[in-house]
Amino acid sequence: MSKCCTLGKNPFIRLRNIKKSFGHVVALDGVDLDVYPGEVTALVGDNGAGKSTLIKIISGVLYPDEGELSLDGKTFRHLTPSRAIELGISTVYQDLALVDCRDVASNIFLGREPLKARFFVDKKRMNRESEELLRKLKVSIPSVTTPVEFLSGGQRQGVAVARSVKQQGKMIIFDEPTAAMGVGESDKILKLIRSLGDEGFAVLIISHNLHHVFSISDRICVLRNGRLIKDFRTENTSPDEVVGFITGSYRHDKKIREKNNTKALRCRET
Ligand SMILES: Nc1ncnc2c1ncn2[C@@H]1O[C@H](COP(=O)(O)OP(=O)(O)OP(=O)(O)O)[C@@H](O)[C@H]1O
Ligand SMILES: [Mg+2]
Repeated sequence: MSKCCTLGKNPFIRLRNIKKSFGHVVALDGVDLDVYPGEVTALVGDNGAGKSTLIKIISGVLYPDEGELSLDGKTFRHLTPSRAIELGISTVYQDLALVDCRDVASNIFLGREPLKARFFVDKKRMNRESEELLRKLKVSIPSVTTPVEFLSGGQRQGVAVARSVKQQGKMIIFDEPTAAMGVGESDKILKLIRSLGDEGFAVLIISHNLHHVFSISDRICVLRNGRLIKDFRTENTSPDEVVGFITGSYRHDKKIREKNNTKALRCRET
């Protein structure tokens, strides 16, 4: 796990007072969040807490109703998907958005294919660079000319990550990267995500799997009912405590503890 500390570092992205409603449903209710380079930040919360809405705002898919985003010191009211990519933000969505019938290399270069003689796609270069990148990321795939429809869930996730890395971004966001994956494949993807943080990317990962979250994150941010209610350094908390904040039972317990303490004090005083 990264030894780096956020003290004294500037966040890559800073969100302030982000609000978003869908009709009468308040999905985000004034969220503040900082994501730092060289760190893996986990965003956790129950179903409907607002996690996906938040990353859609960061990646420019949705506009916030209120609030602002700052990136590398510049402030934006909202982003568009292409602006977010230009600014170095890439998102690996749960459905991965791969083109199944096209091969691995074509998916890694999708929309940014290198040309030769100005008009022709340089397939050889795409294959060579894809092989190099996948080797570097330790993603094992039968061949870069295999259509992605024949790959396993973990291999597909690896291709989606390689595509994000190829965009030469600064921040990579993952929405449930290990959902529906076996133990071995999950482990590989988690190691890959951790290595992206160690390489200096600002990584934001949404996961319901706290074991995974604790194994790779530097920070854990808890969203509950559209509010970011807790921002822990991973080493300073425990799965039980995080579950308490996700479900709201922690605050409930705390109130009961405080009430009991007050009662005990009163008893002692009388
Ligand atoms: N396009 C939409 N139209 C209407 N309501 C929406 C829309 N997108 C999200 N919501 C609502 O906003 C709230 C937050 O949804 P969001 O998808 O962000 O939650 P989540 O934390 O990602 O949940 P999950 O863990 O189930 O993926 C939910 O109540 C959801 O029903
Ligand atoms: Mg979601």
